[in-house]
Amino acid sequence: MQCLSPAFKSFLRPAAAVLLPLLLIGCIEYAVANPVHRSFSPPLRNPETYKAVNKVSQHAQDNSVDDTGSRLIPRVDTEEDHLKICCLHANILDFYLRNILPRHDNKHPHMHRVRTDLQRVSEDLKTQGCNVTHYHDHRHAVQFRKKLAEMGEEQGINKAVGEINILFSYLQDFCVQPKNQTAAQ
Ligand SMILES: *[C@@H]1O[C@H](CO)[C@@H](O)[C@H](O)[C@H]1NC(C)=O
Ligand SMILES: *[C@@H]1O[C@H](CO)[C@@H](O)[C@H](O)[C@H]1NC(C)=O
Repeated sequence: MQCLSPAFKSFLRPAAAVLLPLLLIGCIEYAVANPVHRSFSPPLRNPETYKAVNKVSQHAQDNSVDDTGSRLIPRVDTEEDHLKICCLHANILDFYLRNILPRHDNKHPHMHRVRTDLQRVSEDLKTQGCNVTHYHDHRHAVQFRKKLAEMGEEQGINKAVGEINILFSYLQDFCVQPKNQTAAQ
């Protein structure tokens, strides 16, 4: 049981018969809540980054005049290879860092943190082998830029910032080492 230290185990021995089953349940719950998937980038696992992303996103949504309900970021095609989905969204993230976030600066106190952390994510994904340029012509990347352009600059940027939580959750879900690799470690 990796989640218990040896000292703690010996301390427990007398009471083990009673306590161990309870602790085991605790361990199992811990394992389920914290899958061993390794993320490609630490900020993707950081709860503070997650909170900041959601606050910035919510703030932009609250100020959005768009009521079409349509999304800019296409839904993922889960049939596609997970690493490809990851790198496609690394491409979209790159677009955010260059063209969207700089134009939304200072609109929210957490914006600075979001930009810094996402910059780090972008660099990590490139280090992990995402060729961002390669996904420039992926139909979802094209569709994203086309819809954005159709909305007009100010509305489009606001809408895109409102969807930054979607982008972040796709990166969290797909930019992880494949299961069978993790199991071997
Ligand atoms: C990245 O992708 C582009 C476009 O597909 C390609 O031209 C380039 O050679 C790739 N770079 C690397 C390092 O693989
Ligand atoms: C899983 O492992 C096998 C063999 O070790 C490898 O060929 C395959 O590419 C791995 N799957 C993924 C999704 O990486």
